Amino acid sequence: MNRTHAPILPWYEDMAAGSGGLEPRAWYAGSDAGRLSLNGEWRFWLSPGATAEDESFARPGFDASGWGTVAVPGHWVLQGVGGAPAYTNVAYPFPVDPPRVPTENPTGDHLRIFDRPAGWAGDSEVVLRFDGVESCARVWLNGRELGDFKGSRLPHEFTVGGLLRAEGNVLAVRVHQWSSGSYLEDQDQWWLPGIFRDVTLLERPPGAPRDFFVHAGYDHRHGSGTLRVECDGAEGRVVLPGLGVDAATGETVTVPVEPWTAETPRLYDGELVTTGERIPLRVGFRTVAVEDGVIRVNGRRVLFRGVNRHEFHPETGRAVDAATMRRDLVLMKQHNINAVRTSHYPPHPAFLDLCDELGLWVVDECDLETHGFAGLEWRDNPADDERWTPALLDRAARMVERDKNHASVIIWSLGNECGSGRGLTAMARWIRGRDPERLVHYEGDPSCRDVDLYSRMYPDHAEVESIGRRTEAPLSDAESDARRRAMPFVMCEYGHAMGNGPGGLAEYQRLFEQYERCQGGFVWEWIDHGLVHPEHGFAYGGDFGEELHDSNFVCDGLLFPDRTPSPGLIEYKKVIEPVRIEPTAGTGAGPGTVRISNGYDFAGLEHLDFEWSYEVDGAPAGSGTLDVPELAPGASAEVELPLRGEGVWTVRAVLARSTAWGERGHVVAWGQAEAGAAVAPTAAVGGRPERNGRVITLGAGVFDAATGALVRLGTVPVVGLRLDVWRAPTDNDNGAAWQPDERYGPRWRELGLHRMRHRIDAVEVGEDALAVRARVAPAGVGPGLRTVYRWTSDGARLGLAVSVVPEGEWRVPLPRLGIRFGLPAAYGRARWFGGGPGEAYPDTRAASVLGWWRMPVDAMQTPYVRPQENGARADVRWAELTDGSGAGVRAEGGEPFWFTARRWTSEQLDAAEHVPELRAGETVWVNLDHAVQGIGSQSCGPGVLPEYRLDAKDTEFSFVFSAPG
Ligand code: GAL
Repeated sequence: MNRTHAPILPWYEDMAAGSGGLEPRAWYAGSDAGRLSLNGEWRFWLSPGATAEDESFARPGFDASGWGTVAVPGHWVLQGVGGAPAYTNVAYPFPVDPPRVPTENPTGDHLRIFDRPAGWAGDSEVVLRFDGVESCARVWLNGRELGDFKGSRLPHEFTVGGLLRAEGNVLAVRVHQWSSGSYLEDQDQWWLPGIFRDVTLLERPPGAPRDFFVHAGYDHRHGSGTLRVECDGAEGRVVLPGLGVDAATGETVTVPVEPWTAETPRLYDGELVTTGERIPLRVGFRTVAVEDGVIRVNGRRVLFRGVNRHEFHPETGRAVDAATMRRDLVLMKQHNINAVRTSHYPPHPAFLDLCDELGLWVVDECDLETHGFAGLEWRDNPADDERWTPALLDRAARMVERDKNHASVIIWSLGNECGSGRGLTAMARWIRGRDPERLVHYEGDPSCRDVDLYSRMYPDHAEVESIGRRTEAPLSDAESDARRRAMPFVMCEYGHAMGNGPGGLAEYQRLFEQYERCQGGFVWEWIDHGLVHPEHGFAYGGDFGEELHDSNFVCDGLLFPDRTPSPGLIEYKKVIEPVRIEPTAGTGAGPGTVRISNGYDFAGLEHLDFEWSYEVDGAPAGSGTLDVPELAPGASAEVELPLRGEGVWTVRAVLARSTAWGERGHVVAWGQAEAGAAVAPTAAVGGRPERNGRVITLGAGVFDAATGALVRLGTVPVVGLRLDVWRAPTDNDNGAAWQPDERYGPRWRELGLHRMRHRIDAVEVGEDALAVRARVAPAGVGPGLRTVYRWTSDGARLGLAVSVVPEGEWRVPLPRLGIRFGLPAAYGRARWFGGGPGEAYPDTRAASVLGWWRMPVDAMQTPYVRPQENGARADVRWAELTDGSGAGVRAEGGEPFWFTARRWTSEQLDAAEHVPELRAGETVWVNLDHAVQGIGSQSCGPGVLPEYRLDAKDTEFSFVFSAPG
């Protein structure tokens, strides 16, 4: 008889969440005396598979002297002891056959020897806590098995008191890279096994509570807070000296308080005093609810200016130290961000303490994603399979119990991209039962049956607008449709920050301001997950030899991997600024005014000073402070500016006093106005071109007589000056394969815009001009650009007027339209009057500050992890490139132009896969663009809005070149 037997699965492959552990409870650090950190160097042995039955390593006396070591917390694949990181977005990196995992299942055995702290009372219970282990662990103490667990970014505890010895305790932990839990952890990120969060031993004296739950609401009508602390397993008192509260646990007290909000994170320090333990409390009073289809906190509508934050450090992966956590939050606050979605798992618990303290709204998301089942039409999806429901409920409980005492957490999220199903419904039901005082979020089920808010990722502006009007396309079921249509709306992800971009943020913000229902969103995502790499600088998918990977889709953050802000973050800060400053300095006829609007949800403007400054030709021409009247949230006032004249006005709202996240003087918001119109340069006409053998001279210009190419401008050699339409496609130009709309990056390449040919049809030496006629077109296709370069001079300065007439059918927009030329490497210092200091594109230019800027060409580059078009400066009136002596080239635009300079060509930029491949050459390449194509966010979202498309059409533009002034 030929019969196959279903295998009896080992613990790591069965669907159970774990065994032997304690019930989840609220997390707190524990007292210094009652805590022993087991972080540090552990003995480590890596096996290629999980099949070994051998557990001898867990026995006391095992000789581990031949083993290596790893740092805990950490991922062994980042510590040079074997294995490698692997990146996939949606796909599981193993065959999908739940709950089975591959035989090649890297297994890390970890050993740590420790002594019991001498001061701990003999009758205390002791608990061993793991804050995060990927993907599962089996644990032994002194040779006795404690149990096992799955749920990588969730805490797991064991009671160990009876097993502890005074000295030489042996803690053994076996970690498998893959387990049934891996099917529930298919988040878009690196797969990084290991004990990556703290391991701690905690003393639990007799009479210490098992758990506690702080309920602290705020009644905005009466200005009162209501406090009740439930205490499980002990009786005690709740003491908040600042409020004069001294109440029994379980008792409800009502007192006048200042509420907690993300803008005003007022916390009251206190204690939960029980016979066994004094637990520190930091209580923030706030009430969150959906009322009239709007999320309200303390009775007021809130607007989420949010980001999605993964835990990431370029050297240590998801093992993130306390200083880095604080740095993330300080950077967020400094950039006007007021909300975090903890995509896609509960963060390190200490992160939420910091959110309470610094003030961020938190969407706490469960460690759950089964996205890889999407490719199987969601067949066997664990989120809709009752056999998995206990594991899902275990995850929900571990998150809620751990984090329930944080004022900052106002929304629980069931997980990310799990389709829909019974398991999710069960989680939502359990969460509501346990904590009815917060809202429930989940994006992946369009019916919204389990949630309190309608959430979407990456809808385009038009759809957001229709949702804002509550006129979105209906669900087929009328009842569900009516329910959903009445819900508030957030975008749990939008503004995909991959590479250059995202474009179109300002247009979303206008919709949030216009429609009460649209309560903002969370940009995807906070930081690029580029891992430090000896050759590539920062590595992405494929750089570790993965057989299946998703390339640089893992680098899509507002911060570069080293946490320097990218232009996307600077733009976002400006777009979401909580104060609008709109000067109307006008033409200089009279004193201008400035309209100041308070865009906070709760705060006044007392914490800000308003400073004005005024510049003429790059020189300060006045500055001072504005008197701004007290403005409630939503209110605005018109304030007079004190001076008049032609120049550039800037008004800034700055912190009046230093705070926990910003120094006094830190700029929160700003506005600018130019008094007097931008003046075009006077024409450079009157001079005559002269032919002298092989060259033509015209004023300071020297041209090759055969080709009409400019070869020298005064003393400066010039190469390759000609029409340029190409840019190294951005991640947003390339778009994601699943995007429904046309993706221009691939279309441009198909058309050959990266290999344009320049045919010279005529070099005409006229009375007052040199005209060079050309046709610019790629090989193999018909369409082209008829181009005339018309050079004139007034004797010294050189004028260039370019006219472009498209021929044939141009179905795609142009990447850029302007001229490019090369100067010797010595001309590497840039100065300009226009937008700066950083890059800007048509739909990412809100943060571009009009001013007089100077910096080396090297500093004009934006180091996107995968090199691509970058570094354009917007609205430039004139630009200069000079050498150390001040000699060089100045270009003034007939109209404001886009200025880019780099030490490599767009073609070299396009060819590079990593930043270290870009090497400075002999030439500084300069682009002066009449227009450039917008950026959009098609790497995972909508493309460029129609108003930012650069369609090929008849165009003329001009520059005047001279020696720098
Ligand atoms: C979303 C997903 C994120 C990330 C993002 C694209 O669909 O929730 O985890 O993959 O797209 O970067």
